[in-house]
Amino acid sequence: MQDKIVYLNGEYLPLSKAKISVLDRGFLFGDGVYEVIPAYFGQLFCLEAHLQRLNNSLHGIRLPISLDTKQWLEILQPLLIEGDAQYIYLQITRGVADKRDHAFPEQCEPTIFAMCSEIVPFARDKGVQAITLDDMRWQLCNIKATTLLANILLRQQAVDNACAEAILIKDGYATEGAASNIFAVIDGVLVTPINSNEILPGITRDVIIDLAKVNGISLREDVISLAALQSASEIWLTSSTREILPVTSLDNKPVGNGQVGPVWQTMQKLFQEYKGAIS
Ligand code: PDD
Repeated sequence: MQDKIVYLNGEYLPLSKAKISVLDRGFLFGDGVYEVIPAYFGQLFCLEAHLQRLNNSLHGIRLPISLDTKQWLEILQPLLIEGDAQYIYLQITRGVADKRDHAFPEQCEPTIFAMCSEIVPFARDKGVQAITLDDMRWQLCNIKATTLLANILLRQQAVDNACAEAILIKDGYATEGAASNIFAVIDGVLVTPINSNEILPGITRDVIIDLAKVNGISLREDVISLAALQSASEIWLTSSTREILPVTSLDNKPVGNGQVGPVWQTMQKLFQEYKGAIS
């Protein structure tokens, strides 16, 4: 294991020396939230948007932290490592209580942990396979909670079926991937589900929506029924670590003609240009 320097509660120390108590509520209950913030060429990408979502998640679990963008930057910037593409994993838990009790402890210092990892480059231009699975998660999917057991089981089921992702279906409609948002090209229009408590408000999703608007790509935020998904000419998965990943096979059937589509090609180019321009 690479002994890189990580941040834990005000200290920078080697990963092998970073330890937390077994009474940390993150360990006992998954009582915490996190962010995954990409960095290109040494610059954190969409930092303000990630910090805004972090604050929303913290607010959602009633754990306010009063650090501003400058303070977060001071913590995170020193962690960035050499290379073109990395990501910061930032996790905040409610901290260490003196006993295990579901209810919040009266006094508790949050645990703050951050580390940087490489985004391993991989080819997107062949597309990936995905399967649809029942979305059996909780009702606050807009909170980026560390409590990810349902997402883990769903992703593993996808992997067991030689798929890169599970696309989740709730009441007959696609919500998102186990760790990604979804887009589909339906009758020539790019469609992505509306933000709600059923999906994570993805930062990559927002960038794509803005790029579509600015570049005259017809886009709608709308529900996507399973039937519409099955007949879509293109399907994409989006996230901070996978960027825009085309799905060329859904439930063992080709998406469109089974090749990456023209709308993806256009958006991929726009996204890469945007990354380069703001980094
Ligand atoms: N996950 N939906 C879910 C459930 C996610 O876990 C993620 C990202 C996204 C995409 O959000 P963004 O574009 O802001 O990365 C949507 C991260 C990468 C993870 O858990 O590792």
